[in-house]
Amino acid sequence: MPNESETRPFRFAVAILAAGKGTRLKSRHPKVLHRIGGKSLLEHVIAAAAEVVAPADIYAVIGHEAERVERAVKYTGVNFVLQAQQGGTGHALQMARPSLAGYDGFIVLSGDAPLIRSETIRRLRETHLTAGAAMTILTAELDEAGDYGRIVRRPGAGDLVDAIVERKSATPEQLAIHEINSGIYAFAAAPVFAHLDELRTNNAHGELYLTDMAAILNRVGARVQAVCAADAAEVLGVNTRAELALLDALLRKRKTDALMAEGVTIFRPETCSIDSGVEVATDAVIEPFTQLLGKTRIGHDCHIHSFSVISDSELADGILVRPGCILNECTVATGAVLGPYSHVRPASEIGPGAHVGNFVELKKTRLGKGSKANHLSYLGDAVIGDGVNIGAGTITCNYDGTHKHQTTIEDGAFIGSDTTLVAPVTVGSGAYVGAGSCITHNVPPDALGVGRGRQANIEGWARRLRERKKAT
Ligand code: UD1
Ligand code: CA
Repeated sequence: MPNESETRPFRFAVAILAAGKGTRLKSRHPKVLHRIGGKSLLEHVIAAAAEVVAPADIYAVIGHEAERVERAVKYTGVNFVLQAQQGGTGHALQMARPSLAGYDGFIVLSGDAPLIRSETIRRLRETHLTAGAAMTILTAELDEAGDYGRIVRRPGAGDLVDAIVERKSATPEQLAIHEINSGIYAFAAAPVFAHLDELRTNNAHGELYLTDMAAILNRVGARVQAVCAADAAEVLGVNTRAELALLDALLRKRKTDALMAEGVTIFRPETCSIDSGVEVATDAVIEPFTQLLGKTRIGHDCHIHSFSVISDSELADGILVRPGCILNECTVATGAVLGPYSHVRPASEIGPGAHVGNFVELKKTRLGKGSKANHLSYLGDAVIGDGVNIGAGTITCNYDGTHKHQTTIEDGAFIGSDTTLVAPVTVGSGAYVGAGSCITHNVPPDALGVGRGRQANIEGWARRLRERKKAT
C-alpha cells in the first residue's frame, strides 16, 4: 500500500517576509511599499515569486501597517499571514507555519530584497531538492559585507554551512568573511517546523532570528548548505534611503540595457528613468534625462527629447517629442509633433500628424488629424476635428464653477489668436473666428464669428496728451 506522501503531488510554496517597519528608512510609510523602478519593493518580490509558483501558493507575512500593505498588493492574488508583533524573522516564519504546514517545502524571500530574479529562485529550489537538504541558503560574495549576516562554511566540506552569524554577534574573524546571507532560503518543511520553536531571543535585538536555524538544523544532523548567487546585485536589501536609491539605479540600468539590446537608442542611459513595464519599439531615440513611466508604450522611430516625462501613455510610430513635455494617460498617433513644453493630460488623443506646441495644455481633448495648436493655449473637454488651426492663446472656458462643458470645433475651422470659447459651444466646419473674440454662441459652418468690441480711433489724442504734460 502506498502511503499518503507517495500518492499526493509534491507541494512547494513561497513565503515573503514583509512585516517589518523598516526603522532605518526613517519613514512614515511601511518599508515594503517604498517604490523603486516604478513598483513597490514587495510588488517586485511577488512578481519574481509568481513566475515560479502560483499566487495561491505565495504567503506574504505582513504586520507593520498590515492593512495598507495588503490593500496595495491584493491584486496579485497572494495570501496574507499576519505577524501582529514583529518578533524577528524567525518569529515571522512561526506565524506562517499553520499556512505552510500542508507543503513539503518552501522558499523564504525577503520583502526588502526586490532585485531577486525568478531564475535564481528556481535554481535555489532545484539545488535544494536535488541535494535533499533541510536548509539551502542563497548567499553572495560582497567586497563590503556591511550589516549582512556572515556565512560560516564548514571547512573542507563543499557547500555545507555551519552557521549564519549576524554582524553584531560576529567575531573579528567572522566579520572578515565576504560571503553574506541574502535572507533568502529554501527549506524542507518537516525538519524546520520540527525545530522552529528552538529559536531563542538571546541576541543583540532580543528577536527570534531565522538565521539561527542553520546551527539548529546542523545540531540535529540535517543538511544545511549554501548556493552562491551568480550576480551579487540580485540579493541586495533595502534598509536605508541610500540603498533604495542604489537599487533603483540598478533596476533602471537593467531596463535601459534590455531596451538597447532590443534596438532602442538611449543616450546617456544612466540619466533616464524607465519603469520596468514600459515598452519601446526599435529605432526609437531617447535623449538624456527622460522619464518613461508606468505602462507607457513608445512606437518605432519616435524621438523623445530631454526633460520629458511620459506616464501611462501610448505613442504610435514616428512621433517627435521636443524637450520638456509632460504626457499623462494619453494617446498620440503617428507623426504627431509635441513641444517644447506641452502638457497633455489624461484622456487626450492627439491625431496623426497633429502639432501641439509650447505652453499648450490639453485635458480630455481630441485633436484631429493634422490639426495644430502651436502656442500658449488651454484646450479642455474639447473635440477638435481634422485640419483645424488653433491660434495662439486660445482658451476653452470649460468650467462654469459647477460643471464641465464641451467645446466642439469641426473640421477645417480656423480659430483666431486670443479667442475664448465659452462652453458648451460649437464652431462649425470651415468657419473662422476673429482674433480676440469671446465666443458664447455657436458659429455656423463656413461663417465668420467675431465677438469683441469694435475698434475706435480718436485722432490726435496722444499728441494732445503729450502737449498737456509738457505744459504742467
Ligand atoms: C536579515 C538577516 C541577515 C541577512 C539580511 C539580508 C536575520 C536575523 N538577519 O537581516 O542575516 O544578511 O536579512 O537582507 O534574519 N521581517 C518580518 N518580521 C520581523 C522582522 C523582519 O517580516 O519580525 C521582514 C522584514 O520586513 C524584511 C525581512 O524580514 O523584509 C528582513 O528583516 P530585516 O529586519 O530587514 O533583517 P536584516 O537586518 O536586513
Ligand atoms: Ca533587510
